Amino acid sequence: MKFKNIKNNNNVFSRSFAIDRQKKAKLKKQKPFVIWITGISGSGKSTIANLLEIKLFEMGFHTSLLDGDIIRSGLSSDLAFDDNSRKENIRRVGEVVKILIDADLIVIVALISPFRESRNKIRNFFGEDQFIEIYLNASYESCEKRDKKGLYKKAKNGLIDNFTGLCSCYEEPLNPEIILDTENKEPLECLDVIMEYLKKKVISFEMY
Ligand code: ADX
Repeated sequence: MKFKNIKNNNNVFSRSFAIDRQKKAKLKKQKPFVIWITGISGSGKSTIANLLEIKLFEMGFHTSLLDGDIIRSGLSSDLAFDDNSRKENIRRVGEVVKILIDADLIVIVALISPFRESRNKIRNFFGEDQFIEIYLNASYESCEKRDKKGLYKKAKNGLIDNFTGLCSCYEEPLNPEIILDTENKEPLECLDVIMEYLKKKVISFEMY
């Protein structure tokens, strides 16, 4: 990557925080967790992430939403879509998630995040029940049919490099907490499935 020759890494020291996570969680009255939504372009990530954030907000939870399109126009605006750039994009988002989790937020991520290893690296940083991976399963053909952003058409005409599913791979999660068939299920039905899962499995709902 571009910033490889950084010489002062040896002079950076690890630090602990003065106020630990548990104390902050008590103040916010919620336990933080990550909902990581992955899937190809047009599979419904942003739609479902937005519905979920609205729902949690209405229930009184404190959330933060990291959406690929927004990240790509700010934090990762210097990155392209080749494999290494995507890995760096996912790594950056993972680091932001860590910060937001430390602020006791419920973090929703909507990112293609096509690489299993990159997603798992982030999963491994968090405790069990704290990282909920949701795979939006929709075929390339069905997303191409919807093509809300017109990207599939552009990709077909050779106007987009490394388009996911066409000339760049997407690795399905092997053991995601939730799989949603967004080819056949409406967004609101998907939201119900997620809420059911959270109510059953995620401790923070009991704390509230
Ligand atoms: S990721 O692979 O690095 O995780 P990300 O979720 O940030 O991808 O992509 C954000 C958005 O970039 C997509 O929703 C899509 O609108 C747009 N985009 C631009 N170029 C591409 C491409 N080559 N492949 C897929 N999406 C792309």
